[in-house]
Amino acid sequence: MSDSNASTVDLDALASLAKRRGFIFQSSEIYGGIASTWDYGPLGAELKRNIKDAWWRKFVWERDDMVGLDSSILMNPEVWRASGHVDSFTDPLVDCRECRQRWREDHLEERNCPDCGGALTEARNFNLMFKTFIGPVEDDTSVAFLRPETAQGIFVNFENVLNSSRKRLPFGIAQIGKAFRNEITTGGFIFRTREFEIMEIEYFVEPGTDEEIHEQWIQDCLAWYTDLGVSKKRLRVRPHDADELSHYAKATYDIEYLFPWGWGEIQGIANRTDFDLKAHSERSGHGLTYFDQPSNSRFTPYVVEPSAGVDRAAMTFLVDAYTEEEAPTASGGTQKRVVMKLHPAIAPVKVAILPLSRNERLVPLAREVYDKVRSSGAVDGFVQYDDAQSIGRRYRRQDEIGTPLCITVDFESLDDNAVTIRDRDTMEQARIPIALLDAELGKRLRV
Ligand code: GAP
Repeated sequence: MSDSNASTVDLDALASLAKRRGFIFQSSEIYGGIASTWDYGPLGAELKRNIKDAWWRKFVWERDDMVGLDSSILMNPEVWRASGHVDSFTDPLVDCRECRQRWREDHLEERNCPDCGGALTEARNFNLMFKTFIGPVEDDTSVAFLRPETAQGIFVNFENVLNSSRKRLPFGIAQIGKAFRNEITTGGFIFRTREFEIMEIEYFVEPGTDEEIHEQWIQDCLAWYTDLGVSKKRLRVRPHDADELSHYAKATYDIEYLFPWGWGEIQGIANRTDFDLKAHSERSGHGLTYFDQPSNSRFTPYVVEPSAGVDRAAMTFLVDAYTEEEAPTASGGTQKRVVMKLHPAIAPVKVAILPLSRNERLVPLAREVYDKVRSSGAVDGFVQYDDAQSIGRRYRRQDEIGTPLCITVDFESLDDNAVTIRDRDTMEQARIPIALLDAELGKRLRV
């Protein structure tokens, strides 16, 4: 949606707006915070919910080959032994011998400490899974892991879902949920954190059809971002080099976005082959296979896995939408306007109702319009009533938080039963009869 040069967006300005307007707060801020951990405020909660809803709508509800799942974060630790995470879900950790800072070796360009230039230790493998204990005794038999991906919850439920939903291949299981990784280094605001949310699909296919279906998923996933307004020129698809591939993958493509610091992964689309279903079959002794009636044969399906970070999607939408532009003023001059050009499906507030003033003659009609818009089927989301400060300041506030439409109720409204609709991006205003508001909002919000 935004044509602005997103790579020049100042992250500090974005983080400050995010805090001031209630998108994102530092976690436990009153205690000094906790490293790279963030809370989503009232607008951030709406933004995240809209992202997840838009994803679920496109990839589950609008397709006939998908079903959903909501599996638990804690699982039998055997799951993580079978999946290879206990042995292989590691990053190479190095320590600075001088200042003791810790780094991920594969993120370093040189063999010295980026902070003090000191010599580094040899790399050792650091497992990223968070460990905890189940029950009152903390010993080896009570160890459990916080899931580092939601995928394993899907694999171990393969048979349950197959039997209960009676899906035939190819079909997919989608899941959105929290994941935890004890990352060695974090940063880039909400880009790399230790607690985050993922939107994952395990798409089960007949072996041999996997490569073509993998290609189709890459295109479908890319289209999800561009359909929601993310600038095409700031997106790219990058194949993993052989030495980057996860222990389970035959091929992986990352969708990357051009962030202020450079290209960053926002989604991975992997061909996981039959690695996981076979690994769980072997370890659990419970065969996770598929019987194909037409060919009268039983086999282990291959899996194509699109896996997208919710927080990275939020970061992408915010960076891409953040725009500073010169806007005309009433007196004929111009002034700087900060506007978050979010797609209406993602915008945290869909419509703001702004009475021209708190005059007692205006308020009842403004509240009536507010009630009407909130209960309108045309507005699928949060509607705000905003009567604080001058109308100009209120428009600026709504522009900054990305509200696509503002409705102003003024003294003329009392006579003509009409209101003014202001479009966020063009700033054009149109007079619309209140009786026709539903249809007008529906038309404008479903772009
Ligand atoms: N099940 C496959 C899987 O977990 P991944 O590429 O490791 O694949 C999927 O992670 C997505 O999760 C990434 O593309 C990214 O969007 C998000 N993600 C991964 N680590 C993250 C972190 N530390 N903070 C925020 N998001 C993260």
